[in-house]
Amino acid sequence: MASAVLLLLQLLLLTSLVSAAHHWGGTMNYAYKGRNPDGSYQISLRGKDTYDTCAYYHYWSCYTGNCGSATSRKLINIDSSTNTPSYESQWCQTETVETWRVPSDKPFLLRASSCCWITTRNSVSNWKLESLVDLGTRSDTGEPNRSPDIAVLPFVRIPQNCPRTYKLAASDADGDRVVCRYGNLPGVECDRCFLPSGFHLDPDSCTLRYQYTTANTYIFGLELVVEDHPRNTIDLFYSDGSSTRKYPLSANPTSPTSPPTSPLTPTPWWGWWPTTTTAAPATSPWWWMTPTHPGYPTSGSPLSKLPLQFAFLVDPAVPSCQEGLYLPQLVAPTPAEGERIMAEVNKEVEIRVRAQATHSAIQSLVVSGPANITKHKDTNNEFVLRWTPVLDDLGEHYPICFAVESVSGSSVYQSQMRCVLVEIRKEQIEATVTCTESTMKVEVDKTSLFGLQEDQLRLSDPSNTICSLDRHSNSSHIVAIVPLNECGTQIEEDDDYLIFKNEITTKEDNPNELITRKHLVEARFYCQYPKRGNVTLSFSAHRKNVTVWEKGFGTFTYQFEFYQNDQFEAKYDPNSYPLEFDIGNRIYMQLDASSSVNNTEMFVESCRASPYDNPNYHPTYSIIENGCGVDPTVQTYTPSNDRQFQFSMEAFRFIGLHDQVYISCTVMMCEAGNPNTRCSLGCSNSTRSSSFSRRRREAVVESGKHFVSQGPLRLKREADPRGGSAVNLNLNLVFVAGCLLAAVGMVCGVIIYKTKTSRVKYQPLPAYES
Ligand SMILES: *[C@@H]1O[C@H](CO)[C@@H](O)[C@H](O)[C@H]1NC(C)=O
Ligand SMILES: *[C@@H]1O[C@H](CO)[C@@H](O)[C@H](O)[C@H]1NC(C)=O
Ligand SMILES: *[C@@H]1O[C@H](CO)[C@@H](O)[C@H](O)[C@H]1NC(C)=O
Ligand SMILES: *[C@@H]1O[C@H](CO)[C@@H](O)[C@H](O)[C@H]1NC(C)=O
Ligand SMILES: *[C@@H]1O[C@H](CO)[C@@H](O)[C@H](O)[C@H]1NC(C)=O
Ligand SMILES: *[C@@H]1O[C@H](CO)[C@@H](O)[C@H](O)[C@H]1NC(C)=O
Repeated sequence: MASAVLLLLQLLLLTSLVSAAHHWGGTMNYAYKGRNPDGSYQISLRGKDTYDTCAYYHYWSCYTGNCGSATSRKLINIDSSTNTPSYESQWCQTETVETWRVPSDKPFLLRASSCCWITTRNSVSNWKLESLVDLGTRSDTGEPNRSPDIAVLPFVRIPQNCPRTYKLAASDADGDRVVCRYGNLPGVECDRCFLPSGFHLDPDSCTLRYQYTTANTYIFGLELVVEDHPRNTIDLFYSDGSSTRKYPLSANPTSPTSPPTSPLTPTPWWGWWPTTTTAAPATSPWWWMTPTHPGYPTSGSPLSKLPLQFAFLVDPAVPSCQEGLYLPQLVAPTPAEGERIMAEVNKEVEIRVRAQATHSAIQSLVVSGPANITKHKDTNNEFVLRWTPVLDDLGEHYPICFAVESVSGSSVYQSQMRCVLVEIRKEQIEATVTCTESTMKVEVDKTSLFGLQEDQLRLSDPSNTICSLDRHSNSSHIVAIVPLNECGTQIEEDDDYLIFKNEITTKEDNPNELITRKHLVEARFYCQYPKRGNVTLSFSAHRKNVTVWEKGFGTFTYQFEFYQNDQFEAKYDPNSYPLEFDIGNRIYMQLDASSSVNNTEMFVESCRASPYDNPNYHPTYSIIENGCGVDPTVQTYTPSNDRQFQFSMEAFRFIGLHDQVYISCTVMMCEAGNPNTRCSLGCSNSTRSSSFSRRRREAVVESGKHFVSQGPLRLKREADPRGGSAVNLNLNLVFVAGCLLAAVGMVCGVIIYKTKTSRVKYQPLPAYES
């Protein structure tokens, strides 16, 4: 009794909560999660609901059948935006992840309804959503039916003059025929129940086409329903011994070309489907015969049914509908529409989205995806979606839909909506990543790399000897210790984090081997360092010599040091790093190469300053490019030998924009005195140098390019005697903090492997041997 009262109170509370809210739409997915020890069934119910705040969610109640009840509920924000129609301040989409305990596997109906939608132009005011859940065991798969995996952005917008096709995410893991129709049961699955004019819905391909209407500050509330139907006649068996036969839809469902004459006397729900006159056994009466479902026919009834409701805004006309002008255009590396992305439990999935527009400014990304998906915008204006599946997600398929928004004046433009499908598999790669101040350590069990050995694998850029996987691997594990500034480590930065990435992949085939049947693997990993926190010694230590081994040049070592004056005798003590300079002070630098092979010379192709000494960090400040001084204060000196390079420059304001900078140079070795080398060209933009590359192994005249760096340098922190105006030193600006405790390292993505089919490969020899 007490619990009943409590439940009632809870119901009232929830109803009153949501009544006050303003609804933007919602959708639902469910998944069978196995049986409980007491024989009851467990389902996971994921409702995505959009309101004008993040606090509300749909309350699903049982309409018919024995639904059981929710045993746990988590409300997680997915995305919110203030790029909304003028009469609304924001929308927020949340995902409610609920576990339901269901007493039997018989079908049941869940409904969510209340008032009110935000003001719509198509008179949709109450929200009405209905889901059909059926856990009967399919005769074809021997498993309970899997409902379609559906998603849409909560809010889409388009200028009135730009027709656009929206491919709704609606796939089915059982391979069933998925139908996206407009709701047609008033008060049950929709409020107004007809597709506004100006739109066309193709049920079989689940595409909604916007054709033309006039702009309006109010949205259309679109009330769609997604169903799955078997492709062949199947039976659903229930644990009580009964069964239901499900028939395929006999013909292509057609979308009504005109709305029902009156929404008050709607077509019966099956009326859209041409009724089959073939054997529709009347033996088992439909289990929920109710006045709203008169004579529910067995033929044409779906396996499951889910609501898909969202807001659609038609904006004023734009001068051009061409993508890439005002409307942002999605470009590489954005995944293609419908792409299937394999994910593994506990491995982060990363989806990069990039858009361009010449007449508007790219601003934000809107996303609808599984709970705990996060979005980031990196310093290259690329959007990154990240999500890590947990064990409970194993075997599921989650659609993720996104669009990029740009602004021009007060107008907001959306790119195409794109949806991908993430399929979660079990963990295949056993690996740990450990992040330190200057390295990432990865240990991968060889069995998860199909037993591939270290000599068959490599890091992104293996040209330096310290990047060899042979150094630390043992019989059972591939072990790599990867410097943050070497071996092709990529660097990525957003407002909060610095992320260093690298990967272990299969070595390129020997080009002389024409046919190959090897596995291809790609295990990506990264270390993520939070940018805020204490400044520690991390990334502040003096860099050691760089030792390289190259065929034809043997072992050589690059040394990069800062000196106190132009005599290049007294170098700064490695323990005194980071070095501090005042603006205008001269910084003296010397690069030195020592080689085991005589008759070599060194060439400094470029030197740049950047906050991190990683060759992939952009933007950088150029000091020397193509062997030519670029910074106006650069001065070079005559060194004592061909393997030395001495130069100086004034400490520059660029340092002031960052907490500290490194000077990094790209250098190479050549055969001394040979006129056909890049070294002998000196300062030159000529790309001719590539023709000197080592085409033939016997004629090695120049080495690959190597990255050496030294630093960091800082501006003196003391109050500026000249009044502090000279230096725009903002210590609150981003800097790497060695918040190592908070550093996260992981293997991301999944291992990609495929057996190459035997095929003849015709590959040009690489320009530089690596
Ligand atoms: C989301 O993340 C939180 C905190 O990490 C976790 O407790 C929760 O289980 C996650 N939810 C889902 C549905 O993955
Ligand atoms: C190989 O290296 C891994 C990871 O460092 C370690 O756990 C394992 O004990 C090592 N195995 C042998 C045989 O040395
Ligand atoms: C920063 O350093 C101080 C002193 O060493 C320490 O007490 C504090 O916990 C540190 N803060 C963080 C975020 O690491
Ligand atoms: C770096 O190289 C120089 C010259 O090649 C050598 O004298 C010096 O000892 C090396 N430093 C370290 C730390 O190996
Ligand atoms: C390099 O030159 C030195 C001195 O000229 C000589 O002693 C040495 O043998 C030479 N080494 C090689 C490998 O040619
Ligand atoms: C090299 O190219 C840059 C821009 O492409 C130009 O500014 C510079 O003057 C060129 N330098 C030489 C030596 O040709």
